[in-house]
Amino acid sequence: MLVNAKQMLDLAEAGHYAVGAFNTNDLEWCHAIMNAAEETQSPVIIQCSMSAAKYQTGYKTVSKLVHAMYDALDLTVPVALHLDHGTYDACLECIDAGFTSVMYDGSHEESFDVNMKNTAELVKICHAKGISIEAEVGGIGGVEDGVVGKGELADPDQCAAIADLGVDMLACGIGNIHGLYPDNWEGLDFGVLAAIKAKTGAMPLVLHGGTGIPADQIAKAIQNGIAKINVNTELQVAFSDATCEYVESGAAKKGKGYDPRKFLAPGAAAIQAKTEEKIREFGSAGRG
Ligand code: G3H
Ligand code: ZN
Repeated sequence: MLVNAKQMLDLAEAGHYAVGAFNTNDLEWCHAIMNAAEETQSPVIIQCSMSAAKYQTGYKTVSKLVHAMYDALDLTVPVALHLDHGTYDACLECIDAGFTSVMYDGSHEESFDVNMKNTAELVKICHAKGISIEAEVGGIGGVEDGVVGKGELADPDQCAAIADLGVDMLACGIGNIHGLYPDNWEGLDFGVLAAIKAKTGAMPLVLHGGTGIPADQIAKAIQNGIAKINVNTELQVAFSDATCEYVESGAAKKGKGYDPRKFLAPGAAAIQAKTEEKIREFGSAGRG
């Protein structure tokens, strides 16, 4: 049975390692991430964005696929199904659809007060149903016109206020951004991370934009309270590179190389390999 993300993240926070949260796009992604978790005996969070759920015809489709595949593979490690960057309404839909965890991203609301109010309501709804919930303070930036010197930095007092609402994990900007990091990125701000940690205690903190952060900064972030690391773009690049290589090798034109089960296999293997690499880097291998 799928589990919520609370216990695996509390254990990670206390044990100074991080659980990887990997974005799924379809059956191949889901299968590859589950294989990687079982192979490394690691807990894992499979997360789905609103747009990736729409691509797969909705939250119910995603949920039924992930639940059924977990059972069919007879997995022995804990797996949570999490909504990534959801609106208030998307959280409600996912709770109804069978997700075991949600992220309410209130960072785009018109004010911090609205973020607080909506988060408080969702904490009650989720916990009544045994579902874990992630909240976000401040925004996580992205590349605009190829120029980002520094990602956004969350306000430690706002982090403490949201943490006090009883969320299970908290995303906060510490200079991280989504997508590929530009050459002029200034790195994570460990001063801000320390200030947030000092005010939020044992709350598992979430690092978004896990793609491309140097290993030494990942290790330092984990030692300082990061217990969940989100990775999306890096898996997409791994899939795309392996698929291009398959096509460029001419294999797709040989024999039944056009069969989707052959055509998609190198990409799926690349997703699994990259996920295993990240799981080992985050220190969660053997913790499942
Ligand atoms: O919420 C998802 C992530 O934060 C993934 O970011 O695409 O930069 O790895 P990424
Ligand atoms: Zn994110």
